Order: sequence, then structure tokens, then C-alpha cells
Amino acid sequence: MKLQYRHFAAIEKHAGLLGILIAFMVAFGGLAEITPLFMKAHETQPAPGIEPYDPLRLAGRDIYVREGCYACHTQMIRTLRFETQRYGDYSVAGEFVYDRPFQWGSKRTGPDLARVGGKYSDEWHRLHLLNPRAVVPESNMPAYPWLADALVDAKDVQARMRALKRLGDPYDDAEIEGAIEALEGKTELDALVAYLQGLGTQGERQ
Ligand code: HEC
Repeated sequence: MKLQYRHFAAIEKHAGLLGILIAFMVAFGGLAEITPLFMKAHETQPAPGIEPYDPLRLAGRDIYVREGCYACHTQMIRTLRFETQRYGDYSVAGEFVYDRPFQWGSKRTGPDLARVGGKYSDEWHRLHLLNPRAVVPESNMPAYPWLADALVDAKDVQARMRALKRLGDPYDDAEIEGAIEALEGKTELDALVAYLQGLGTQGERQ
């Protein structure tokens, strides 16, 4: 049967029916694109050398999330020359398998942080987080002075490690037991600096 205009006239003349069919097509198209990506996400293997976060860096990561650093910083270097020249090797999926949730972000008020580890000294990061203007006079990044006074909640980090293990992260029991000792006396500032210094320093990329 040759399809002709009259076959579709009923659809075109009924806005309600047209709307429903459009919604169906958009939903179907969306699912067709998204579903394979969800399947693939579960298959992503850690890039060589990528390990789960140690307790201090894990604590730092949670502080990064709590303070909303992702609102101004991305952690994802795209495959564009001007990005790789500025920030380093582009990011690959296998680098993020232990990031729950990932911190790719979408807004760069400040620079990308995916490979910031080792770029500055620990002391620079401390000064910068306590008062960005102390090291970068023109900075408009907020100061986070309270981080130096708060101790990391070790029990909480330990519980998180247990939860992550249950989700499949390869922590061993000794590591989880050792978290309390590893975090003794550590401030939130110590943890956040350790997290930043670890960004992009693990593994061989590409
Ligand atoms: C309101 C936006 C904003 C927020 C929120 C913010 N930053 Fe920034 N950040 C900036 C800007 C702008 C710069 C560039 C100027 C500077 O170095 O201070 C920057 C720079 C940095 C740098 C140096 C990067 C480099 O390569 O030189 C680090 C590290 C950093 N921020 C970490 C953080 C962390 C950690 C947090 C959360 C605790 C945070 N930022 C929150 C705006 C922000």
C-alpha cells in the first residue's frame, strides 16, 4: 500500500492525538539513546592504576560535594585541543568508576580541576581555601575558613567505605578498620587538600 496524505490526515487534524504521538516518539527516541549508555556505564572498567579513594581523600571528596565546589569547577577535560593544552590529557570514563556521584560539573567559573593534583603545594591549597585572595589577588572564589577548625568524622567515613564496598568498590576489611586511625586528628581542610592533590595523579591515562 502506498502511503498518501489521506492516511495521516486524521493525525494532523487532531491536535490531541498529534500531541500524544509526538510525546510517544520523543520518549521512544530518548530511551533508544539513553538505554545503551546506561548498560555501558555498568561495564566501564577502572583505567589502569585507578584505585578506590583512601579514607582521607574520600572524606575530602564528600567535603567537596558538601561545599558545592562543583558549582564553579568541572572535573572533566574534553577532547578539544585548547582544553588538553590548558589542563592536560582529556578525561576517560575509567577514571571515574569510584566516583559516586561523579563531579564532572557543567559550569566553569573557576578552572577545571580534573588534573590539579601536584600542580601546587599543600600549603598553597591551604592558603587558597582559607582565603583565595591571599594567593590569587584577583580571585572571586569564596573562602572556606571553617574547614580548618572542623575534624573529619571518621565513623561516618568508615560507614561510607562499607556502603561503597557493598556497591562493589574493592576495599578490604583491614582498610575499612584502619580508617579510624588514618583519620585521627585530621581536619576537613587536610582531607580536602588530600583530595585535590590526588586529582588526576592516579593511573596511566589513555
Ligand atoms: C563561586 C565560584 C567558586 C566556587 C564555589 C569555588 N571556586 Fe575554586 N576557583 C574559582 C575561581 C574563579 C578560581 C580561579 C582563581 C583562583 O585561583 O582563586 C578558582 C580556583 C580554584 C583552584 C585552583 C585551580 C588552578 O588550577 O589554579 C582550586 C584548587 C579550587 N578553586 C578549588 C575549589 C574548591 C575545593 C572549592 C570548594 C570548597 C571551590 N574551589 C569553590 C571559583 C570558585
